[in-house]
Amino acid sequence: MKKVLVFALVIACSMVVPAAPTIDCMGCHGSTAPKYPILGAKLGYEASVHSIGGNARYSNAGGCQRCHTNEGFIEYVIMGMDPVAYNDYASRTPVPFINYPSQPGCFTCHDPHSTGDMSLRTVKPVTLVDGTIYDGGKGNLCASCHQSRTNIAKVMPTMTAKSLNANWGAHHGPQADVIAGTGGYQFAGKKYTAHTMMVNDSCVTCHMGQPDGRYGFSPKVGGHSFNMAGNVHEAEVINMNACLSCHPDVKQVVGTPLYAIKGKSDYDQNGKIEPIQQEVQGLLNKFVNKAGNGYFQKLKPPMYTTGGKWAGPPADAPYKLEHFAALYNYKLVLEDKSLGVHNAIYEIELLYDSLQALDPKFNVSVRP
Ligand code: HEC
Ligand code: HEC
Ligand code: HEC
Ligand code: HEC
Ligand code: HEC
Ligand code: HEC
Repeated sequence: MKKVLVFALVIACSMVVPAAPTIDCMGCHGSTAPKYPILGAKLGYEASVHSIGGNARYSNAGGCQRCHTNEGFIEYVIMGMDPVAYNDYASRTPVPFINYPSQPGCFTCHDPHSTGDMSLRTVKPVTLVDGTIYDGGKGNLCASCHQSRTNIAKVMPTMTAKSLNANWGAHHGPQADVIAGTGGYQFAGKKYTAHTMMVNDSCVTCHMGQPDGRYGFSPKVGGHSFNMAGNVHEAEVINMNACLSCHPDVKQVVGTPLYAIKGKSDYDQNGKIEPIQQEVQGLLNKFVNKAGNGYFQKLKPPMYTTGGKWAGPPADAPYKLEHFAALYNYKLVLEDKSLGVHNAIYEIELLYDSLQALDPKFNVSVRP
């Protein structure tokens, strides 16, 4: 009887007090042969926008903190990563905010003092705002934050010019949606290319690939800088390593941070087939450009000034669905910031249909 009691007690205790994990501090903090390159990762991280972007404090309420702060993201993961539940929590009164918010950092993505290793805090597939599942392996970590915040199909019926402002759109980092082939305003009757995720571990493979040779020693490109391009020895250098296995002859477009991978057609109709990022830039220029004659600059009343800034159109501007849709798609492609690398065909389809909506005479013969 006594033995059984003691046994039961031991079981009960072991259930309440989990055994502390044995963590080998020196495996990471030792000065000789550490298991993980903590200091090297830190050097790259310090050159990254995660570290120096500076928006953590500005974006520390209203649900923004789940992507913009280290503390908010950890809270979001602990709460089960349900954006609706998190937004409910974030809109309580008094508004919860973090006292000392910090930029996304080591402990945002890793939890070494709990796990004892550098595994990732989450790699759960991500449900995007329109319900599409993003499942790109380790890149799911990135997609947890780098996603659109607007379901445009749902919002469109309520749109008036009054809803617009300089920040209206998908939000600045809709990369996961674009890669999954969704997130744009898809016009009725048009076909769109979906699901083009071709690279294992998606974001992580391209953005964290370590470049070859001596540029492998630059903390500003690849690795924990998360940058595909960066300034090394006063020259813009791109990280081609992650592309070579599939695009063996990729080169850099001289004097730019662009990848010389040609498109199939002259999409921007300037008379030459250029690298795809230049074709996409050419299409974006049709909406807003330096000469001041893009569609949104010539529109009455204009959405953008001739100088290329948001014009702040009046609340009663007589815009229609095609204007809102084109503006949304233009901003989606602009803020994806890859100029087509993330999903060239989908982005070109969206831009073509938007240009056609604004100008029924726009030549769509080479729409992909
Ligand atoms: C798997 C790797 C790993 C292990 C094991 C590990 N740490 Fe860390 N530790 C880190 C990382 C990563 C950081 C953040 C690095 C930085 O900012 O310089 C860190 C930072 C710290 C800091 C600085 C305070 C802070 O929060 O930034 C202290 C103190 C620390 N660790 C103590 C320990 C102790 C004590 C142990 C053993 C119980 C341990 N660590 C085990 C990875 C590890
Ligand atoms: C916790 C949310 C979060 C996670 C996880 C995250 N990011 Fe970010 N990322 C951000 C935010 C927020 C910024 C902008 C920071 C600022 O401006 O303060 C950013 C900026 C960036 C930038 C710079 C963009 C620019 O405009 O120059 C790149 C590149 C990037 N992230 C890639 C990645 C990759 C790759 C991953 C996965 C390995 C990842 N991010 C994971 C939130 C996140
Ligand atoms: C935005 C997310 C993110 C942030 C911030 C981040 N890491 Fe990582 N880290 C990753 C990803 C993704 C990997 C690759 C994981 C894999 O391949 O399993 C990784 C891998 C690592 C590794 C293993 C590298 C190797 O080759 O074995 C170390 C060490 C590491 N990180 C340290 C750090 C340190 C130190 C910081 C803070 C200075 C940090 N990380 C910040 C996402 C992040
Ligand atoms: C779902 C995650 C997420 C939420 C929620 C979020 N952001 Fe962001 N935000 C990002 C990411 C990721 C970036 C960086 C994207 C990039 O540079 O490509 C970013 C970038 C920004 C930038 C920098 C823009 C620039 O171009 O320099 C500002 C400012 C910003 N967000 C403000 C906010 C505010 C304010 C809120 C809340 C109303 C908010 N964000 C909510 C993910 C989010
Ligand atoms: C096929 C490789 C590839 C994959 C996969 C990929 N990216 Fe990119 N990404 C790029 C390239 C190339 C650029 C453009 C860099 C340039 O032209 O300088 C870019 C640009 C970006 C930018 C803008 C950076 C800046 O400095 O303006 C962000 C942010 C970003 N990617 C995040 C992500 C996220 C998040 C994922 C996963 C959801 C992802 N990327 C997947 C290759 C990739
Ligand atoms: C795992 C293989 C793989 C890797 C790695 C890869 N790509 Fe691709 N990429 C593809 C495939 C497949 C296509 C689709 C080609 C098609 O539809 O004809 C493609 C298409 C593209 C396109 C659009 C071209 C077009 O005409 O549609 C660009 C631009 C591109 N990739 C850039 C990159 C860059 C930059 C990198 C490295 C940062 C990279 N890719 C890494 C497989 C890959």
